Amino acid sequence: MGSKPLFIGNIRLHKRVFLAPLAGITDFPFRQTARMFGAELTFTEMISANGIVFGNQKTLAMLKTVWKEKPLAVQIFGSDPELMAEAAVVCKDFGASIIDINMGCPQKKIVKTGAGAALMKRTKIATAIVKKVVKKVSVPVSCKIRLGWDHNTINVVEFSKRMEDAGASMITIHGRTRAQMFSGSARWDMIQKVKASLSIPVIANGDISSVKEARRCLQISGADGVMIGRAAIGKPWLIDMVSKGLEMEDNKTDLEIPPLHRVVTYHLDKIQEFYNEKIQVQTARKHLAWYSKGMKNSSAFRNQIFRTDDIDTLKALAKDFFTPENEERNIAKQAKK
Ligand SMILES: Cc1cc2nc3c(=O)[nH]c(=O)nc-3n(C[C@H](O)[C@H](O)[C@H](O)COP(=O)(O)O)c2cc1C
Repeated sequence: MGSKPLFIGNIRLHKRVFLAPLAGITDFPFRQTARMFGAELTFTEMISANGIVFGNQKTLAMLKTVWKEKPLAVQIFGSDPELMAEAAVVCKDFGASIIDINMGCPQKKIVKTGAGAALMKRTKIATAIVKKVVKKVSVPVSCKIRLGWDHNTINVVEFSKRMEDAGASMITIHGRTRAQMFSGSARWDMIQKVKASLSIPVIANGDISSVKEARRCLQISGADGVMIGRAAIGKPWLIDMVSKGLEMEDNKTDLEIPPLHRVVTYHLDKIQEFYNEKIQVQTARKHLAWYSKGMKNSSAFRNQIFRTDDIDTLKALAKDFFTPENEERNIAKQAKK
């Protein structure tokens, strides 16, 4: 790995492990928590370009804290090049460090509009989007893609090259096709061909949940860095942990996990500061359930939190549950993985 900095356009990064965009999860409080516990580059969840341009209040609310985070990649989705460029300008004005274009979302409701992974079948439109966005904003533009639409139409190498030629400053590849959704295993080996053909940074993504896997993925793919999604749910410190692990000597993976009560308290405070009461409770319950996964008495804890309707009671329940004794068992369990 070494400690050579990684450049996304003119943005200099010191760490090579990024927090993936996860709709409904990587909101401002979650990203803040990941940053507090060491993450450097985070991505917003995907944000509708239409919603931004037409001033949808809920969509714009997702952007209001962007200026507080540096470096932050704001991910947008859509299929109209003009509209995507207009949306990118708004994101940049809100303070985005990087504009990331979603070209990998497999969901029906997204691909039927020609956005997300459908763009991998529409190279001309995808190219026009990148060109227009790059022309309109001064910040770097990146793309997050898959291997292709399905196993008969894998086009990740040619497609990535086209995006680079159109002006993209980084490509992140989730090593599955759209047809696979989340099934099978991510093909890190197929990312290697992209890395060999491009001069911009290539980031590998899919199925990484430990230092060991990140190291293996980098060896196989030759990528410049990795992005972690699902494994960071309930473990926002994982981004930093993997990043530190990669800088250490080979095969050393026994890294310190921050005390869970500190992570949970910080995250709940951020949720309380950011959302209105109703959303605070919904969001806090969801994350508390993830944090407690696999811990002793966690199902009784979850029953309690899902019957609780105010944030202060949730905080008190969390304080009682995430005790050093309960945490110790959890850490011992994770260390065995
Ligand atoms: C619940 C969920 C929401 C996601 N939302 C987004 C999104 O908004 N934008 C995006 O590009 N990818 C999204 N993804 C895909 C992830 O960023 C990532 O590419 C994928 O989960 C594979 O990486 P992993 O194995 O580390 O999770 C989402 C995945 C999940 C499970």
